[in-house]
Amino acid sequence: MRVLVLGGSGFLGSHIVDRFVGERHDVTVYDLFPERFRKSPAAIKFVTGDFGNVGGLDKLISTGFDAVIHCVSTTTPKSSNESPEFDIQSNVIGTLNVLDICVRHRVGKLVFLSSGGTVYGDIGDADLVAETHAVRPMCSYGVSKLSVEHYLDVYKQLRGLDYVSLRIANPYGERQSPLVALGALTVFLYRTLKNQPVEIWGDGSVTRDFIYVGDVARAVYLATINPISGVFNVGAGVGLSLRQILAEIKHVTGRDPSVTWQPSRTFDVPRIVLNAQKLTAATGWTPSTTLREGMKRTAIWLQKSDL
Ligand SMILES: NC(=O)c1ccc[n+]([C@@H]2O[C@H](COP(=O)([O-])OP(=O)(O)OC[C@H]3O[C@@H](n4cnc5c(N)ncnc54)[C@H](O)[C@@H]3O)[C@@H](O)[C@H]2O)c1
Repeated sequence: MRVLVLGGSGFLGSHIVDRFVGERHDVTVYDLFPERFRKSPAAIKFVTGDFGNVGGLDKLISTGFDAVIHCVSTTTPKSSNESPEFDIQSNVIGTLNVLDICVRHRVGKLVFLSSGGTVYGDIGDADLVAETHAVRPMCSYGVSKLSVEHYLDVYKQLRGLDYVSLRIANPYGERQSPLVALGALTVFLYRTLKNQPVEIWGDGSVTRDFIYVGDVARAVYLATINPISGVFNVGAGVGLSLRQILAEIKHVTGRDPSVTWQPSRTFDVPRIVLNAQKLTAATGWTPSTTLREGMKRTAIWLQKSDL
């Protein structure tokens, strides 16, 4: 298979690239920058470019791809609310340009990395949420992800572009930067290893579905190579509060995290845990890395890394 990974130098993208390279597919990465934490696998072709460069992307995609895996996001949940206009312009309009190019050059499938953590919004008392659950994002980032999901469906109906949207829960693991305001588990682990306090917004009861990055990469791989279309959750289906994560970190590192408590943030939903049975039924995917094992691997990487 000839695969193009947009944003393939990033955290999730680099693991997705590893998966496809490991399975001997022909992989091209398109990104603004090379990988930050390692040298990319020698087998890939790397093209430097901006997602907003329609001409450049058109030229690249005209060379023919069986699948385009879209891992670019120009915003985070927090930053998206600071400028929804930028979020729409760069992520929604930017993706529409990619869809047009994919239709023009008959790309077999577009795989979009959506967000299970933001599209559903506040799920109230629900235990696990399936794809059929009501959606009500609390941030522009979630609105943009949902907009793209809807456009993908429109493009499939009207123009025949096949797609999969993967609503990914809270990924963590190697090559997730602990120096940005995203990815609580990796940030908490890093700061504890460095004897720095961790910041928690709220009382620590915020509950998330943490999923190891290798399991996400395998989900993306299976969703790409199998003849499936539509929207799928990707999560471990286990809810852990930030307080429980601190306890796990203590267990794995032998250090007691010190916490700076901050007021809660309006865009943090209290709880989100995903039901990924639809993806399991369609592809056989299930997460295979326990939280403890994933956390140990992440801790080893953080200790070795020159951050
Ligand atoms: N990390 C998470 O918690 C999470 C959760 C759910 C969904 N997602 C989604 O998965 C995707 C990948 O996330 P990630 O955590 O790997 O992000 P990341 O920031 O690590 O990677 C994104 C990559 O996109 C590249 N990029 C950004 N703007 C670009 C542009 N204008 N042109 C070309 N390349 C550009 C960056 O250089 C980077 O390599 C994103 O769409 C994100 O919204 C992430």
